[in-house]
Amino acid sequence: MATIQTSGRGTWNSKLGFILAAAGSAVGLGNIWGYPTQVADNGGAAFILVYLICCFLIGLPVMIAELTIGRHTRKNPVGAFKKLDKSGFGAIIGYWGVLCGVMILSFYLVVSGWTLAYVFEEIFKFAGNTGLAGFFGDLTNGPKNAIFTIVFMLFTVGIINGGVSNGIERATKILMPFLLLILILMAAYVMTLEGSAEGVRRYLLPDFSLISLDLTLSALGQAFFSLSLGMGALITYGSYLKKNQNIVESAVLVTVFDIFIALIAGLLIIPAMYVALNQGIQIFGDDGSLLSSATLVFTVLPELFQNIGGYFGLFISVSFFLLLGLAALTSAISLLEVPVAYVIDEHNVSRKKASLLVGAVVLFFGIIISFDIGLIDVFVAIFNEIGLPLGGLMTCLFLTWIWKTGNAIAEIENGFPGAANSRRLKVWAFFISYICPVLIGIVFVTTILNMIR
Ligand code: PHE
Repeated sequence: MATIQTSGRGTWNSKLGFILAAAGSAVGLGNIWGYPTQVADNGGAAFILVYLICCFLIGLPVMIAELTIGRHTRKNPVGAFKKLDKSGFGAIIGYWGVLCGVMILSFYLVVSGWTLAYVFEEIFKFAGNTGLAGFFGDLTNGPKNAIFTIVFMLFTVGIINGGVSNGIERATKILMPFLLLILILMAAYVMTLEGSAEGVRRYLLPDFSLISLDLTLSALGQAFFSLSLGMGALITYGSYLKKNQNIVESAVLVTVFDIFIALIAGLLIIPAMYVALNQGIQIFGDDGSLLSSATLVFTVLPELFQNIGGYFGLFISVSFFLLLGLAALTSAISLLEVPVAYVIDEHNVSRKKASLLVGAVVLFFGIIISFDIGLIDVFVAIFNEIGLPLGGLMTCLFLTWIWKTGNAIAEIENGFPGAANSRRLKVWAFFISYICPVLIGIVFVTTILNMIR
């Protein structure tokens, strides 16, 4: 397939190709693993409401900002901020993004490796008769964990190596429809099982008295993580955009699609938890709170699938972990692309060398984590909960005070004729300059205060 290239860097071959790649970045463990358990933990539909507000009022404007910076500069995050701010100060935001990319990917890979391990375990029963609960303990406690982390990394590096349109775009174009299909079929199937109605009720009936500061913090962090914001993933993906693509429309599509997948994943996981409860499987810990999300997804659900039994149970189980693995893969690709694009652009290294080099650095941390999975919580706290909102906040401030929203709107005008006079874009500029930084700032400061308290 011929690749049309402008300026020697890769570009997306088609508009849909970009949207699927960006949606592939957004839809990941955050949707299928993170979101449902956050909803269940935070009192159901009240969380959904706050989450939707965070996605539309903060996430969407920041996504438009990142894509615009990327397309305008045609660079990785470090190069992009350098280009827009000659003082070099702005580059700090880019370096922060590259660091977050490496660190988030290193634990993301470990969890992604588990999905692979379960597909193998289910098909080949290589763990013998430890039972699935025993399997998780065994898997996460030693070299097996490292091996699956490495294997998953090899897949990710392999795709990145293929480049923008022949690697990332092609892989996500095949994987995303497949993922959507598995997800919808599985949610529909779970609905037919006894006990699921109780789960649906808990998921969708709101209790607004549960809305609290803590809940808002979780919702904002979840929105940044799920929409892949705050670390330059979408600056990088935006840098491969052609000028005739409408950035605003694309961002709306990606945001809506990401939310849609999360909502459906909630309709799969939460009812499945209550089906499990109905079958006598424990989903609450001794203190009455839900078990950790890792336990729910990697021991409760497999136990439920095992109860279904036979080849059908096997089929359901393999489908589920395949779904999780595919979603994780298309996100891991975008996490890796940020540091890889940085090394290619700024240090003039070939794509192949850059992906091997960055891959090795990420694996170094990934292997450390796979020997001590308690570190995952530490990495999440530093790089997700603080790192991403901080990156988003700095991006808003940079756009407002250094690059200026008027310049951004001029860039958006490519592919969006009339952008300069569009009321929607005036609202966007107002959000980027005032609403987003103030809201993120409040949440960010309170998170830090909560952490040191
Ligand atoms: N959005 C991905 C998910 O939900 C994770 C991710 C975060 C990917 C940041 C890229 C950048 O799993």
